[in-house]
Amino acid sequence: MRTDTGQIVHLADYRPTDFVLERVDLTFDLHPTETKVEARLIFHRSEGIDPKAPLVLDGDELVLSGLLLDQTELPAEHYTATPDSLTVKDLPESAPFELTITTVINPEANTQLMGLYRTSGVYCTQCEAEGFRRITYFPDRPDVLAPYTVNIIADKAANPLLLSNGNFLGGAGYGEGKHFAAWFDPHPKPSYLFALVAGDLGVVEDTFVTASGREIALKIYVEHGKEPRATYAMDALKRSMTWDEERFGREYDLDIFMIVAVSDFNMGAMENKGLNVFNDKYVLADPDIATDADYASIERIIAHEYFHNWTGNRITCRDWFQLCLKEGLTVYRDHEFSADQRSRPVTRIAEVRNLKSEQFPEDGGPLAHPVRPTTYREINNFYTTTVYEKGSEVTSMIATLLGRDLFRTGMDLYFDRHDGQAVTIEDFVKCFEDVSGRDLTQFSLWYHQAGTPLVTASGAYDAAAKSFTLTLEQMQPATPGQTSKEPLHIPLRIALIAEDGTLLTPTSVTGAELTDDVLHLTARTQTVVFHGIPSRPVLSLNRSFSTPINLQFSQSAKDLALIARYETDHFARWQALIDLGLPNLLQAARDAREGAPVTCDAVFIDALLAAASDESLEPAFRALALALPSEADIGRELGGDNDPDAIHTGRRAILKQIAEAGKDIFASLYDSMQTPGPFSPDAASAGRRALRNAALTYLSQSDDSPARAKAAYDAANNMTDLSAALTILAHRFPDTAEAKAALKDFHERFTENALVIDKWLAIQAAIPGAATLDRIQGLMETPLFKRANPNRMRALVGTFAFSNPTGFGRADGAGYRFLAQEILDIDQRNPQLAARILTSMRSWRSLEPVRADHARSALMQIERAGGLSTDVRDIVDRILK
Ligand code: ARG
Ligand code: ZN
Repeated sequence: MRTDTGQIVHLADYRPTDFVLERVDLTFDLHPTETKVEARLIFHRSEGIDPKAPLVLDGDELVLSGLLLDQTELPAEHYTATPDSLTVKDLPESAPFELTITTVINPEANTQLMGLYRTSGVYCTQCEAEGFRRITYFPDRPDVLAPYTVNIIADKAANPLLLSNGNFLGGAGYGEGKHFAAWFDPHPKPSYLFALVAGDLGVVEDTFVTASGREIALKIYVEHGKEPRATYAMDALKRSMTWDEERFGREYDLDIFMIVAVSDFNMGAMENKGLNVFNDKYVLADPDIATDADYASIERIIAHEYFHNWTGNRITCRDWFQLCLKEGLTVYRDHEFSADQRSRPVTRIAEVRNLKSEQFPEDGGPLAHPVRPTTYREINNFYTTTVYEKGSEVTSMIATLLGRDLFRTGMDLYFDRHDGQAVTIEDFVKCFEDVSGRDLTQFSLWYHQAGTPLVTASGAYDAAAKSFTLTLEQMQPATPGQTSKEPLHIPLRIALIAEDGTLLTPTSVTGAELTDDVLHLTARTQTVVFHGIPSRPVLSLNRSFSTPINLQFSQSAKDLALIARYETDHFARWQALIDLGLPNLLQAARDAREGAPVTCDAVFIDALLAAASDESLEPAFRALALALPSEADIGRELGGDNDPDAIHTGRRAILKQIAEAGKDIFASLYDSMQTPGPFSPDAASAGRRALRNAALTYLSQSDDSPARAKAAYDAANNMTDLSAALTILAHRFPDTAEAKAALKDFHERFTENALVIDKWLAIQAAIPGAATLDRIQGLMETPLFKRANPNRMRALVGTFAFSNPTGFGRADGAGYRFLAQEILDIDQRNPQLAARILTSMRSWRSLEPVRADHARSALMQIERAGGLSTDVRDIVDRILK
């Protein structure tokens, strides 16, 4: 493991390389503990470079075992090799030269899961961001692009399959039970997109004919016996390929596209050229093991990685500060894909829920950073929800500013202008300026200023003048390293609604540009007057969540109820229901803390139940309306001095009052929302299941016994229903015989299936209350629990720390101490995973003083430990600062 050196990388220090890499030719002689890698690299000096300048290559834990210059052994005085760099001097001044570098690496000992490693006997790689340098010495940066030839030699019986990027060139026997295969990728690519997979896997095959008539071979590789579980992923892949042709005019560009599912993976998946590697959690599905949410994630992530072929691979990042160039844009594309494949408003609501519960706390805490940062200590720590999700929101705002057609024209220009290049955010934005004639200088601040803007609005209607005056003020909160900020260009989608629910259209607007329903805020304060408004309007602000802001606008419960009932934008209806409910949840937390009785406003309960039983609305929408803000969301809205127990108790009391008031509605939904016939993962059926399970969850709030939940568990014939019933049993009735029996039954039925065992672990990790820590420690002792496996660790320790405020945040601080121990342990094997789980502590300062004190001591225990990785050191320092 690399320990921290304290070195910080600055965007301002970027300069192009001294040497141009023309070609890469790699030969792997695979062995579990001693893999020999021979890299033949052809370089020439960049123009205008000092003819004496040495070539410096990156390494990480490497040992050099051979070095040739133009096929001749290089004497030691011409180079210096350390584990993390290779410096070669006295190279030809202008002619191209070939370096042949030999390294020997140990895939079996690679527990970081970066570079070449083994997972369930399969060789696989993960190179983004800086994993390639763990394979060989290389200019391991995204602006060095070259075509690659890859030769793989391996034991044939153990590794019938030998895969790499590009098109298959050929293969043959190699003697001594070995064989070899050669691959060539003609598209110049950076090293982070390199991949190699070797082993013995099953395959699902299909073909896709592109718009121009080329036939592409599609292959998804999974563990033998699991092939039937890859058919949904294959279907999602084909739909993604069609969508990218239709929506963005993008065709696939190799003869073959492969996906490999592995069970040990740090992230979701990786877009290596022509050979995507996936966490098997995001490939494998059938009704017995996957929930509707799993199906939706698989569809989205398959699409995401496929879409990277154009946004990321054909056009890549100049440096890692530009990560959002590919990630924000590709998330935007996968969101659009999901919206087109499913229901647009439902998809949008789910995205915004996730944005608010993941990205908003990041942006409002010690880890806040701009979408396009300017410094980093460890790039792995910048694969954040800000770069991905806020990056997508920023892209989406460009589409809102330009309109759908001009946005497409801008994307076409981007693909034309920059194909084959490694570019920056400025290059990207320039394309949209050029097609629209709009100056996006002020808008670009969204990339550079961290923090969630706060927009305060107030309105006044003048009946005599028939005008409505809206005053808006924007405030940019201070974030680490950024204290003073400029106002942003905020595209705020709005509607004015009359008392009878119809839309009011102003005859003219002064004080701000209005294009369609988009109001352009550009100044710190702005007074906008809507003329020709015949009656008092109810204002719907930030329709579809057009801009990622916190909005402060006090509206009466009556006005919110009107929006919830009449808005044509269904996202806005959902938001109005949340806005109606939130004050009740906040007050409930305060009352519970004082030991006072909790009450809930009838207008809110009525509006919620009206939405729940409104048959003109999609079931999925109604289910999302019923899912109240989480305990963590309530904590964020409270803003400080938070007591997780009070938040939990207060929220529970509100749930109970809704449950009592809606008893009959929930009972009838539970009966009527069945999905007859064989299981289908389509969005409409998933919506019915979601609404039915939401109804069951409310029913269980007013039930005194687990009988109904147990009956649901026994009757379930798919994983969505089964895990929903198990969650209710374990969370609402944890100490009953029924809950214990169901947990035991679930475990016995799925012992062989690690991904389902993860659900079993996660459900238990989220059981509210102080007793859960003991349960978790017990579960860690069971043989099913593999500490080295990231999915297991995230399911148990990750769920506990991220999603169990009362268990993790128990008042005696034992949860935080437990996490500190675990982080130190995980860091020894897998720094990326340790750092990721540690970010669960990012909001510790908003806890009440006793818990905050415990949290600080736990963090300091990590901080004081010796030999931390850069990953953990970076996070703990920033969280404590
Ligand atoms: N590019 C991958 C994606 O599509 C994520 C890879 C992240 N890798 C890492 N080491 N942090 O989102
Ligand atoms: Zn991505």
